[in-house]
Amino acid sequence: MNLHFPKNFLWGGAIAANQVEGAYNEDGKGLSSADVKPYGIFGDVVDRQAVTMTAMKDRAIDFYHRYPEDVALFAEMGFSCLRTSIAWSRIFPHGDEKQPNEAGLTFYDKLFDEMAKYQITPLITLSHYEMPYHLIEAYGGWGNRKLIDFFEHYARTVFTRYKDKVKYWLTFNEINMSLHEPFTGVGLPGDSNKQAIYQAIHHQLVASAKAVKACHEIIPDSQIGNMLLGGIAYPLTPKPDDVLAAIAENQQWLYFGDVQVRGSYPGYMKRFFKENHIDLQITPEDTDALKYTVDFISFSYYMSCCATADDREKLKGNILDMVPNPYLEASEWGWQIDPKGLRILLNMLYERYQKPLFIVENGLGAKDTLEADGTVNDDYRINYLNDHLVQVAQAIEDGVAVMGYTSWGPIDLISASKAEIVKRYGFIYVDLNPDGSGSLNRIKKKSFSWYKDVIESNGKTLVIKS
Ligand code: BG6
Repeated sequence: MNLHFPKNFLWGGAIAANQVEGAYNEDGKGLSSADVKPYGIFGDVVDRQAVTMTAMKDRAIDFYHRYPEDVALFAEMGFSCLRTSIAWSRIFPHGDEKQPNEAGLTFYDKLFDEMAKYQITPLITLSHYEMPYHLIEAYGGWGNRKLIDFFEHYARTVFTRYKDKVKYWLTFNEINMSLHEPFTGVGLPGDSNKQAIYQAIHHQLVASAKAVKACHEIIPDSQIGNMLLGGIAYPLTPKPDDVLAAIAENQQWLYFGDVQVRGSYPGYMKRFFKENHIDLQITPEDTDALKYTVDFISFSYYMSCCATADDREKLKGNILDMVPNPYLEASEWGWQIDPKGLRILLNMLYERYQKPLFIVENGLGAKDTLEADGTVNDDYRINYLNDHLVQVAQAIEDGVAVMGYTSWGPIDLISASKAEIVKRYGFIYVDLNPDGSGSLNRIKKKSFSWYKDVIESNGKTLVIKS
């Protein structure tokens, strides 16, 4: 089989403001939900005003000041696309202001200009695991429908400002994550009940649709997508009950896509709400707004999992209730590696939606060793990415429309789950230690030239293994 990627395939990497920028309180930036979770999205919320501390994300990899060097390195690898996010609290420090913070807007102007110098297409997420913290304290986060207006105002502000510079947008990063981590997703306490969480998610889905409408109005030649955590579940056994368990588990994340792509709640969710005594407040205006659907579907993919109806097997599940697959190996962080799962997922989403797909996160978090001679020999990362990209080519051969691939963390960054630096994803090593010390110097890993070759050859250098 020949590996074939379309001529205009977007190749690149993906980063997020709160995991790379640092400068958490510079140039008028407000405190964000990410700033008050210094130990990562699965850590505790800390009162940053009362507690004196320095968090890894406060400085992160200092992309805020070093972006010209980093963008030049991405260009050297041949990136045609860079996915990053705008920190909402740089533009609206409290989230409810009428006027934006000019210094925040200027930063992203400069960043997008730098990318333009190298013809790198920006793919911009409006909200990647962060929101102004004031909106949580003063309004109760997305539980309050006023957030829809604040978000729409923010979205319209950045669409208007960057309409000539940014043509590809995403609304909320991994919008289905709220079901596992409600504070990060919708600004609700971790112990919130289902009624509260699904209502807050509903407000966010309406806000996402309103952003789609605004984007099309303000930037007619733009494309805007959603962003799902592609947590595909296989039945643990061929038992029909396990098959039904897998369907139900997949529906819990696919319903976000169904609303964002098809414009209304699917029947299975209406049943789920009824059986779980969840009574969503949906206004006629909400129903109309949801009809503004996305142009493409984007998603992250790191691993697959299994679903079962057997309670004893369920106990083996990890933090996201994922039951392990006995046929797969796992990364050092227990994430099961399944390249073929990416092909399965691409086919599944394309069959369901018949809209272009964009893989906006995929990669291997691993402990890297900086050798005495200054090299990092990350063959494990090369293998992981090679095998996943081969499956992307397979899916393209299956007829799936894939717009591009941005690997997660092309430069080492602060991990989302635990705010650690020992888990690295990059082609570029950052000299940063777990205690926050380090020169922050950038060093090319072995995978740097490997990825450069893949991009330059449009995938021809990838290796098909048996
Ligand atoms: C995705 C997030 O869930 O996974 C990223 O969108 C995150 O923000 C990535 O960094 C990998 O997770 P982690 O915890 O290894 O950083």
